[in-house]
Amino acid sequence: MILGNLHLNSPFILAPMAGITDLPYRRLMKSAGASLVFTEMVSANGLDRHAAKTWELLRSCPEEEPFGIQLFGSEAEVLARAAAEVSPCGALIDLNFGCPAPKVIRSGAGSALMRDPQRVGRIVAAVRRATPLPVTVKLRAGWDAAAINCLEIAAIACAEGADGVILHPRPRSQGFSGRADWSLIRRLKELLSVPVIGSGDVFTAADAVRMMKETGCDAVMIARGGLGNPWIFQNAARILAGQQTAAPDAATRHRFARRHYQLQVEIFGLPLALKQMRKHLAWYSRGMRGGAEFRAHINRLEGIDGVMEAIDRFFDEHGKQET
Ligand SMILES: Cc1cc2nc3c(=O)[nH]c(=O)nc-3n(C[C@H](O)[C@H](O)[C@H](O)COP(=O)(O)O)c2cc1C
Repeated sequence: MILGNLHLNSPFILAPMAGITDLPYRRLMKSAGASLVFTEMVSANGLDRHAAKTWELLRSCPEEEPFGIQLFGSEAEVLARAAAEVSPCGALIDLNFGCPAPKVIRSGAGSALMRDPQRVGRIVAAVRRATPLPVTVKLRAGWDAAAINCLEIAAIACAEGADGVILHPRPRSQGFSGRADWSLIRRLKELLSVPVIGSGDVFTAADAVRMMKETGCDAVMIARGGLGNPWIFQNAARILAGQQTAAPDAATRHRFARRHYQLQVEIFGLPLALKQMRKHLAWYSRGMRGGAEFRAHINRLEGIDGVMEAIDRFFDEHGKQET
């Protein structure tokens, strides 16, 4: 899998997720087999204003390389300036043309740009000139069901120098409801000569491989399917190579949950680590007996004490039940 000058060792990529793909999560997913990881969408205007909180989203470390930076904004010049400034920090720039959040749309960014193909062209051209890194665009299917124009927008982006296209084939109006229309990914792949990355409704390792087979896409981006389920990346690679996979046992879940919490503490320190980790522990314990009590216990912990002990106790107990 080659994106511009970037060679990836597997076609399974971690999707950008606001509020989730922070540095600890990206490092964990990288160690779990994601070939490329992304920041959450980063405001080009915030970077331009030198907002410390926005720049903090770019905090990285060598262990997660190569790492992609996703930018959002509506002004070609601002996005180009931001791309130039962040280029030394990452390996790839992705442009967000898909975010359906009302606040983002009101600013003319994200999926609002699906209604303005000419502006998309100007943005991609400006960013292409501003950075030596590979540039990709991440699209939704279109603004709404009556305006499915991702193929047109993708063609414009590629004509202006995009090195790859990522498609989450739901229109903005659909949010996350219903199903992603994978046939649009297949049509995009037929249309373009640059790599196509599919996104949407990949909840298991088998789904990831099925998306590649059904659509011919070059790579698959995994978002919700990786929550509490980091082994999805390695299992997808195994299925693709014709090897057996096994459901993770309690010991594997335990190892990942522990490592995740350690990374959170190492990188963010306490008490932020606990705040961030609550949702992840809920995902790691999903479907496990006693999970509801475990989650309630973690949510009651106010200080730092007892978190690792609670993790160890819960997963050890499950390990014993399995043997
Ligand atoms: C909590 C959450 C945050 C997201 N944030 C972003 C984002 O910052 N940028 C982006 O391009 N897509 C974002 N997405 C969309 C995902 O990258 C992905 O395209 C979408 O979730 C479909 O994939 P899935 O079915 O594997 O979840 C987000 C999705 C979720 C669930």
